[in-house]
Amino acid sequence: MCGIVGILGREPVAERLVEALKRLEYRGYDSAGVATLEGGHIARRRAEGKLRNLDLKLHAEPLNGTVGIGHTRWATHGAPTERNAHPHATEKVAVVHNGIIENFRELRHSLEAAGHVFRTETDTEVVAHLVTDEMNSGKAPIEAVAAALPKLKGAFALGFVFDGAPDLLIGARRGSPLAIGYGDGEMYIGSDALALAPFTDRIAYLDDGDWAVLSRNGAEIHDAAGHKVERPQIRSQASSFLVDKGNHRHFMAKEIHEQPEVVGHTLAYYLDMANDRVRLPKLPFDIASLKHVAISACGTAFYAGLIGKYWFERFARLPVEIDIASEFRYREAPLEPGGLAVFVSQSGETADTLASLRYAAQHGQNILSVVNVPTSTIARESHAVMPTLAGPEIGVASTKAFTCQLAVLASLAVAAGRARGTLSEVDEQRLVAALVAAPGLMAEALKLEPQIEALARNLSKAKDVLYLGRGTSYPLALEGALKLKEISYIHAEGYAAGELKHGPIALIDETMPVIVIAPYDRIFEKTASNMQEVAARGGRIILFTDAKGAEEAGVETEATFVLPDMPATITPFAYAVLIQLLAYHTAVVMGTDVDQPRNLAKSVTVE
Ligand code: F6R
Repeated sequence: MCGIVGILGREPVAERLVEALKRLEYRGYDSAGVATLEGGHIARRRAEGKLRNLDLKLHAEPLNGTVGIGHTRWATHGAPTERNAHPHATEKVAVVHNGIIENFRELRHSLEAAGHVFRTETDTEVVAHLVTDEMNSGKAPIEAVAAALPKLKGAFALGFVFDGAPDLLIGARRGSPLAIGYGDGEMYIGSDALALAPFTDRIAYLDDGDWAVLSRNGAEIHDAAGHKVERPQIRSQASSFLVDKGNHRHFMAKEIHEQPEVVGHTLAYYLDMANDRVRLPKLPFDIASLKHVAISACGTAFYAGLIGKYWFERFARLPVEIDIASEFRYREAPLEPGGLAVFVSQSGETADTLASLRYAAQHGQNILSVVNVPTSTIARESHAVMPTLAGPEIGVASTKAFTCQLAVLASLAVAAGRARGTLSEVDEQRLVAALVAAPGLMAEALKLEPQIEALARNLSKAKDVLYLGRGTSYPLALEGALKLKEISYIHAEGYAAGELKHGPIALIDETMPVIVIAPYDRIFEKTASNMQEVAARGGRIILFTDAKGAEEAGVETEATFVLPDMPATITPFAYAVLIQLLAYHTAVVMGTDVDQPRNLAKSVTVE
């Protein structure tokens, strides 16, 4: 979603603002802008579309100010036009904003009644006018911001610069993340440490409700109640090199190919590979005495959680309830105190997942998060964190974060099974040995890329695609459909294969590709019957299976992809690679913006 940067520099900052914004591109955006003080007065350059358009504007009309703010906007209120692009400004203040100001309509009405003239449809513009209104009543910039913030409702991060104040930058955080960077005679704000990495590795994260007044000498941080507070400075690990695509055409391709390595790292963190045992960090609750697990997440992370549910229930005989976070947060689930609530999130900033976490914490749950960004809000608000070691995921469509989430959930489920006595030591060794083999099998799956690429050329002509699977292949079917629709814009649906007869079979005709994920397992025959039903109606079957599955399928397929035999526990890892490759190559054929698909954001910090 929107990205924020701000620099109080010693030299002109416009170029560096854009450089930092480029590092936030992965969050998704549809317009961008910067504001600096030129001769003490606010000057802005903004552009629709990609950052190169902003670059061109700055080239034509350079900005030379040494204090400035920048923004990539993912439209919520108002179309993604130049007029609605941030920074928004009055003659007194310029502001950049990530999140949603929920009470913007009321504020706008009262400000308009007081004579303020609005020029955009955005919720953000009210912040500029609200602060201006406070300044018009005689307040200095800092007091004006302090007076304005409590009047705003919603979740947001903000950055401000002020006309006539060349040594002042203010940042505020409620809900959406904001980091402060400490340089040598320079100070920075940014949505994350990755944006600031070229300038500094000394970072402090604002807590919820904090706001910070920056000068070139440092920062004074206030909490929501207005008390001065200290937030620890940490050394960020974010690389100052722009994470690059290596020799791949897209970040998504690179991230798909990285999976054997990063899943291997993640497994090595949780498993004692020499002895085929699980080795979890110490958890602040007793897994053995748990009665219930609640998992909550969004999108792809939700599907990882759904596969986790199958594992927890099978290995640890622990009942698991799983919810889409946007539902969980409002459905008022009764939670018996002492239960375990697990939150799965790549970014660790997803608004619905965070709200669900807070609900569970208020209801006495032990909070465990599986996150890829260990400094994220979700990680910081959890009682225990099990990081995925996927490294920065830049492609908007999640790939390596998903399989690393599987690695963590599988390790946890096996550990739970051991602690609860539902798995023997021999079972543990068998399961761990299987997990250790997963990266190698993912590498095998990558070898099928040329055939998948060929299939993608056909698939790109389809209007609708159906994905089917049973057991842990059912969440994979959902994930396959999500991946395809989000990057190729082809309509796709995932179904439990057993559900076919209950509705979706009506869609089957000779134009409909049906992708069946069916490793040969104890329920393969059931899926084979479903394939018969599809074949009988002329549907085009594309089968992902193994040698035995290919032999026993009993139907003619348009294409069959054969993976090596593998233990059932690790099929989601290897088969995930195939569905990712298929979505990726179909999108490439379609010519879409694979890494930044339309309308999508990497980190969904609004509801
Ligand atoms: C799909 C995708 C999204 C995210 C979802 C949750 O490819 O990336 O569905 O999985 O927005 O995001 P995180 O994991 O950051 O909470």
